[in-house]
Amino acid sequence: MNTPIQTDANPAAPDIPQSRVLVDPYADWAQSQGIPIHLDFGHNLLALETQDWSLYEARGCLAHTHGAGDFMANYVLEVAVSAKTKPVRHLYEMFCYVLEGFGSTKIWLPNGQTKVFEWGPKAMFAIPLNCQYQLFNSSGLDRVRVSCTHDAPLTLNLYHDEDFVFNNPYVFKDRVGQAKYFDGEGDLSAYTHKTGVTRNVWETNFVHDLTHFKLYELEARGKGSSNISFILADGTMHAHVSQIPKGRYKKAHRHAAGTHVHAVDGTGYSLLWYEGDSQFKEFPWAHGFMYTPPYWMFHQHFNTGPQPARYLACSLGSRRYPFISLRRKSAEGAGSKSLQDGGRQLEYEDQDPRIHYKWLQELATTGVPSEMGEIFDEKAISKLPANELQGVIKMPKSSGLAV
Ligand SMILES: [Fe+2]
Repeated sequence: MNTPIQTDANPAAPDIPQSRVLVDPYADWAQSQGIPIHLDFGHNLLALETQDWSLYEARGCLAHTHGAGDFMANYVLEVAVSAKTKPVRHLYEMFCYVLEGFGSTKIWLPNGQTKVFEWGPKAMFAIPLNCQYQLFNSSGLDRVRVSCTHDAPLTLNLYHDEDFVFNNPYVFKDRVGQAKYFDGEGDLSAYTHKTGVTRNVWETNFVHDLTHFKLYELEARGKGSSNISFILADGTMHAHVSQIPKGRYKKAHRHAAGTHVHAVDGTGYSLLWYEGDSQFKEFPWAHGFMYTPPYWMFHQHFNTGPQPARYLACSLGSRRYPFISLRRKSAEGAGSKSLQDGGRQLEYEDQDPRIHYKWLQELATTGVPSEMGEIFDEKAISKLPANELQGVIKMPKSSGLAV
């Protein structure tokens, strides 16, 4: 993502001008915004420094992550007390997750009308492609912070013309969907993988409150797990919300880069590792935290708190429009199919003992009892000697890359 330094002469061939190569139009655009660019494995989006951002006439920062991959990124938009953003439109898709504050969004519809809907913390909405929109802070007391996950890297790198991306009059009539989609209503549907697992899908543009949205059983990803996939604004970007019950954790799996995971509810942590690693990478879980599991890195989510834990994941490649073959395979069920069967999921019985050992230790500090004693011999695991809790992380030999 670095534009090379331009020089007048090519040292290897002094008579030939330096080639204009290795350009990253998204990175150039990001640099030109004049707001902080935070780059880390993940972020506490509520704590990131923001600065004035002329694009929105509000405040913001770019919340970049090492695992974001080539197509997706995130920025935080902050609207001051009683303030509003400048109306903006763009040719990249964007999902907004309200981190804090109360306000509303005005959308200019293809038919010339406008629509306004109100939201509060933990609401989620999509900006239909290239619709002009404006955010308002309706509170006289508190700022608004919104996490904006988008595919601007894809769009800006594809067209490398900012005027085309930000000042394009084209109207995408089919992206706004039904009027009720901005009222927090939607349509439920379901489809079944070849694996026999049924996935529920909710089509809308706006969800009032992710913490109370109805989820559906998805035991294939861990006992008691529940989930809903969203199709938002008929988009190519995907979102889903999953919940882990109290006293439990999900199975590890891996997939393509770019899934922006936001902790919505509850407390806990994620462990991440590559096949062959000897150490786990750990990332904390609480409201405001967001990270992106890097490409093909195993990741696993653990609930250590006294309540169910929910998270929101936003990525490129929706259930309707998977976009890349790896996402198509995810939509077909590869993400919840065992490694031993050629999938991407590490089953409980195949996992390294230090995963459950650590979780039991974490639960001892929170006082929450484990609900996983039927799967693991927890007494034996908690007494494992140190020499069984080190070395290369154990797992079945996988069937290799990109399945
Ligand atoms: Fe995942």
